[in-house]
Parts: sequence; structure tokens; C-alpha cells
Amino acid sequence: MTFATLFASVVALLPAAALAQTTFSVQVGPNGTLTYDPPFITANAGDLVRFTFNPKNHTVTQSSFDAPCVPLAGGATSGFHFISNVSGLLDTWEFAIPASSTPFWFHCEQTQPVSHCGKGMVFAINAPADPDPHSFDAFQKLAMQLNGTGDSTSQSASAPPSSSWATATATITHDGSTWTSVYTSYDGTPSPTYSPDGPVNHVIKVGADGLNYTPSNISAAIGDTVTFEFHPKNHTVTQSSFLQPCKALAETSTTGQVGFKSGFKFVDANETNFPTFQITINDTAPIWGYCGQTGHCQSGMVFSINAVEAGKNNFAAFKALAMAGAPSSNSPSGSNSAGAPNPSTGAAVANNRLSYAIVLGAVGAVAALL
Ligand SMILES: *[C@@H]1O[C@H](CO)[C@@H](O)[C@H](O)[C@H]1NC(C)=O
Ligand SMILES: *[C@@H]1O[C@H](CO)[C@@H](O)[C@H](O)[C@H]1NC(C)=O
Ligand SMILES: *[C@@H]1O[C@H](CO)[C@@H](O)[C@H](O)[C@H]1NC(C)=O
Ligand SMILES: *[C@@H]1O[C@H](CO)[C@@H](O)[C@H](O)[C@H]1NC(C)=O
Ligand SMILES: *[C@@H]1O[C@H](CO)[C@@H](O)[C@H](O)[C@H]1NC(C)=O
Ligand SMILES: *[C@@H]1O[C@H](CO)[C@@H](O)[C@H](O)[C@H]1NC(C)=O
Ligand SMILES: *[C@@H]1O[C@H](CO)[C@@H](O)[C@H](O)[C@H]1NC(C)=O
Ligand SMILES: *[C@@H]1O[C@H](CO)[C@@H](O)[C@H](O)[C@H]1NC(C)=O
Repeated sequence: MTFATLFASVVALLPAAALAQTTFSVQVGPNGTLTYDPPFITANAGDLVRFTFNPKNHTVTQSSFDAPCVPLAGGATSGFHFISNVSGLLDTWEFAIPASSTPFWFHCEQTQPVSHCGKGMVFAINAPADPDPHSFDAFQKLAMQLNGTGDSTSQSASAPPSSSWATATATITHDGSTWTSVYTSYDGTPSPTYSPDGPVNHVIKVGADGLNYTPSNISAAIGDTVTFEFHPKNHTVTQSSFLQPCKALAETSTTGQVGFKSGFKFVDANETNFPTFQITINDTAPIWGYCGQTGHCQSGMVFSINAVEAGKNNFAAFKALAMAGAPSSNSPSGSNSAGAPNPSTGAAVANNRLSYAIVLGAVGAVAALL
């Protein structure tokens, strides 16, 4: 067979191949992320793309390469799909690829509380590969450039946004039994699933590396524990809030939250048996905290657990706020006390723990406010 006839027979086969319709599955905002998974596909005319909407409130909206975050006039859109919780029931929307080989560009129109598109939540069909200037990466970069928030650290330090909290309910059914768990959630936080191999203990060293918690910003799943290990000389682990990094939560909460406090732990310079303080992660809400020793918080000795790094209220913004001279606690944070983040979660937290094995087998369920 010559090249010419080989070419001819391949071309002859093409229309038949195009008739075999393929359905592509794309997850919208899986695991609370501001992403489409996969972020781009290569498809033929007549193929279907089935978008599955995960919890939160997203769209799949056609745009153009040059204006990634602006709906294309006459383009396709799913409209907003608010998914309050999972239970196996996720919305879907389908896009049939028209008879055309040109690229198709999409974005999420949500702008509350941050522009999802500006965070890189874009999708493409048949985008040319890198290094083409119209590649998917180039499209995503342009979205983040045009609709991104830029350096959120400096903006947040002067005018931090307030948090939008929600109490969400997840219903988990397994072996004929149904559990209802209530937990606090927050936009962008992880799904309230347990660590796949059982609870994990995260260790944070206090003051082992200067006036720092190491590591200072961690992610932890529900059921995990965080053990703070106190190094010399005299530090605390005190829960605070994003807006008031250096004040005990008990002093600033308007909803009666008490927050945890280790009290001062004085550790001798030659001590090798470091005292510890442990907390249990009950929900996916971000946890903020600081050292109550005079001046330590203001020098940046703060930590976060499950901060939403994709949003404005990220750890860097929290730390910047602490160092910007946020007022510190008036009363010493030396007493030993601990409290659930939200009084109404107490009973449900127990449910969450009991249903540990059940949650493992269930789809992660979360309701998050926007
Ligand atoms: C979502 O979480 C599941 C389970 O942890 C993981 O297998 C999957 O890769 C995650 N997907 C994304 C897009 O992060
Ligand atoms: C979803 O987001 C849109 C745009 O921000 C908003 O108008 C709509 O009310 C939201 N839906 C729900 C149920 O929160
Ligand atoms: C992106 O920015 C443009 C121009 O300011 C605006 O019209 C559009 O609504 C924004 N889109 C998103 C999703 O942020
Ligand atoms: C979660 O979904 C169930 C039905 O699947 C519904 O009855 C319940 O009200 C939902 N919870 C929230 C907080 O939306
Ligand atoms: C630790 O620091 C606190 C607050 O500054 C102080 O009251 C306490 O006496 C210190 N403990 C020791 C053993 O120095
Ligand atoms: C630490 O060293 C000092 C003197 O160097 C000693 O007096 C003290 O007992 C030591 N403490 C511990 C816990 O070993
Ligand atoms: C958050 O933690 C990561 C990983 O430990 C670290 O690389 C990063 O610098 C931390 N962010 C800030 C603002 O300290
Ligand atoms: C988790 O719940 C327990 C029991 O209600 C409480 O003692 C603990 O302080 C909570 N953990 C956090 C981090 O608030």
C-alpha cells in the first residue's frame, strides 16, 4: 500500500468514526475545589460532555479565549447549579459538541465570594497543545490575570472579608441505617470525609523553630487529631478567629464559641520530654490560632488548620493581619478550656465519630455556602 492509498483509506474511515459518539464525564467543583476535572478534553463533533455538579454553586458557561470569564454572546450555559449536599444526587448538564473542530472555552460564572474563573476554574475542549499561545494553560492564565484578585495578602490585611459560615446537614445511609450529621462548613473547605486509612495524628511543633508553629498551616480531615508539641520556652496554643488573629475566640465570638486553649506551657531549655496539647477535628471549618505570649502573635506566631488557601481568607492573609498589629487579648489566655466551634455541633459531632466506618464507604457529603 502506498502512502497515498493509506491516507485515502484513513480519510474514508473518519466519518464512520465520528458517528461513534463518546460521552465524556467532567466533575464540576469536585471535593470543594474550584476546578473542572479533567480541565480539558479532546473530542469530536457529535460527542457529549456530561458535567456533574458537586456541592456549592457553579456554572459551566461558554466564553471565548480572549475573554475567559465573560459569557459568550449566544453561547451555551448550564446556569447556576446550587448543590447543597450530596447523597448520591448530583445535578448534571450536557453539552453536545457541534459539527465544528474549533476549540470551545468554558468558565464558572460564580463571583461570590471570589471569582471562580479568576481562581482558574475554566475548561476547554480541543484546545491546541502547549506551546501554542491558545493552549489550555494560556487560557487559564489569562482568566486568572483578568479576573483574579491579584495579591490577596495585602488586600486582606487592610480590609479582610468576613467569613460566610453555614451549618450543613449530611445524611449517610448504610446497611439500612441512616445517620444525620451536622457540622459547620465553609466555602472551599474539604469534604467532611475521614482520612481514608483512619484518623491521622498531625504534629505541630510550638516554638521549635523560632517564634513559629511548624508546620503552620495544615489540612486535617474530620476525626483526625492535631497534637501540639511545646518546645522552649513559654508558649500557648489559643484558638482565635480570622478577623482577630491575636484574641482568644471566647472574647470575640458573637455566638458563644469558647475555642480551645492550652494555657502557658513553660519548657526548660534542656527539656527533652515536650509537653503536648491535643485537639480533635470535628468539622471542615477553618481553625485559626496563635500564641498568647506577649508579642508572639504580633511577630507572626500563628497557625491555621483547613484554611481555604484558594480564597482571600488564606493563611498568609491571616498571618499578615496578625503582624499588622491586630489588638491582642487583654486577659491572659492561660486557663485550660476547650469548646466546640459551634454549640449546635456538639451532639452531631458525636454522630460523625460514630459513623466513622459508614462515612468511609459513603460519598463525601457537604453543604457549603457561597
Ligand atoms: C477527590 O477526592 C477523591 C478521594 O479523596 C480523590 O480520589 C480524587 O482524586 C479527588 N479529586 C480531585 C479533583 O481532587
Ligand atoms: C448561586 O449563585 C448565584 C450567583 O451568585 C446566586 O444568584 C444564587 O442565589 C445562588 N443560589 C443559591 C441557591 O444560593
Ligand atoms: C470577569 O471580569 C469581567 C470584567 O470585569 C466581568 O464582566 C465578569 O463578570 C467577570 N467574571 C467572573 C466570573 O469573575
Ligand atoms: C440534603 O438532602 C436531603 C435529600 O437528599 C434533604 O432532605 C436535606 O434537606 C438536604 N439538606 C440540606 C442542608 O440541604
Ligand atoms: C509563662 O508566661 C506567662 C505569661 O507571660 C507568665 O505569666 C508565666 O509566669 C510564665 N511561666 C514561667 C514558668 O515563666
Ligand atoms: C536543665 O539544666 C539546668 C542547669 O543547666 C538544671 O539545673 C536543670 O535541672 C535542668 N533541667 C532538666 C529538666 O534537666
Ligand atoms: C503553608 O504551608 C506550606 C507547606 O508547609 C508552606 O510551604 C507555606 O509557606 C505555608 N504558607 C505560609 C503563608 O506560611
Ligand atoms: C471537638 O468536639 C469536642 C467534643 O465536643 C470538643 O471538646 C473539642 O474542643 C472539639 N474540637 C475543636 C477543635 O473545637
